[in-house]
Amino acid sequence: MKRGFLLAAMVVVAAILVTSVALLLLEWRARETHQPSMTTIGGPFSLTDQDGKKVTDADYAGQWKLVFFGFTSCPEVCPTTLSRISLTLKALGPLGDKLHPLFITVDPERDTPEAMKSYVEAFDKRITGLTGTPAEIEAVAKAYRAFYQKVPQGNDYTMDHSTLIYVMRPDGQFETMLRYDDTPAEMAEKLKPLLEQG
Ligand code: NI
Repeated sequence: MKRGFLLAAMVVVAAILVTSVALLLLEWRARETHQPSMTTIGGPFSLTDQDGKKVTDADYAGQWKLVFFGFTSCPEVCPTTLSRISLTLKALGPLGDKLHPLFITVDPERDTPEAMKSYVEAFDKRITGLTGTPAEIEAVAKAYRAFYQKVPQGNDYTMDHSTLIYVMRPDGQFETMLRYDDTPAEMAEKLKPLLEQG
């Protein structure tokens, strides 16, 4: 009887242990897939700006940056993102000049430097549009843990892409993220204390 109880207790303890470990693993996996590790977002890149000039991450060193991905024929998310970022720049006043938004295309096939230029400049001249070879785009998206995928649409195609806006420090380190559907007031509130740091 006593031995039976002990055995039952041990089984219960073992079950709890196994469940806890399984839950921990699940949570760890969820973090892996949904929340990119803060220290590993960003890194070197080599791209072409909207004036056709070859650029690297070093060209933007020493500046606060907003890095985000999209494409100029995006029906909704990208126009929303760019318009909110341009309103955020205005809301920040002179502090907005310390912030350099970098819009990186995930559709380099269609988004030539010229296409990027007319698109970003329609929102705010302070926004830089970056394109590159498919390999360069793949590399920078990987560095920022950004996702994108071509989706066929009749004879044409559209792009699926992740919508996070990465706030990068002047030293190139990741600071935080904004969501494209944050209001300009919310974005400005988050950015103000950072930009005031210098
Ligand atoms: Ni988009």
